[in-house]
Amino acid sequence: MTSKFFTLALTGATAAVLALAPATDAHSDASNPAVKARMEAMKVIGAQTKVLGDMAKGATEFDAAAAQAAAATMAAEAAKIPALFEPQEDDPESEAKPIIWDDWDDFTAKAMDLEAAATAAEASLTEAGAVGPALGQIGGACKACHSTYRE
Ligand code: HEC
Repeated sequence: MTSKFFTLALTGATAAVLALAPATDAHSDASNPAVKARMEAMKVIGAQTKVLGDMAKGATEFDAAAAQAAAATMAAEAAKIPALFEPQEDDPESEAKPIIWDDWDDFTAKAMDLEAAATAAEASLTEAGAVGPALGQIGGACKACHSTYRE
């Protein structure tokens, strides 16, 4: 497999989701432990996205076991989102919008959408060509939530 193949397979949606992967640790200084915990979960989710994104770009070679493990970790973290966000906690570092707790059912549905996308990805990631489409699905789930519920 050449990296050219991966570059061509990289869709706009995939490029957009890669921008979600955490580049810095800017929010590690949240002092509210509940806020810190939900940020940490998002960072773990972001790190799994980066594992898949690097494979999609050809920066790392496709590895089915590693890709599936990333998707499984992402699904497990997504499953924790409702419990992590349930207490309406705030912190100066938080980017969570208060509307989360007004539209709680929709917020948790969007968390379940990510869990479903990651679970489906885990099953599909048996070949390199599956990474781009899986990331597209996953990225759509990140964006659907962030666009409404994250500053
Ligand atoms: C159900 C809603 C939801 C989904 C789905 C979701 N996020 Fe988030 N994400 C949030 C909210 C809300 C915050 C802000 C949390 C805060 O600052 O208190 C956030 C914050 C983040 C952060 C910043 C963490 C920090 O240190 O401040 C990253 C990185 C992130 N998300 C990545 C992702 C990626 C990648 C995906 C998809 C694979 C994703 N998120 C899916 C709601 C979601």
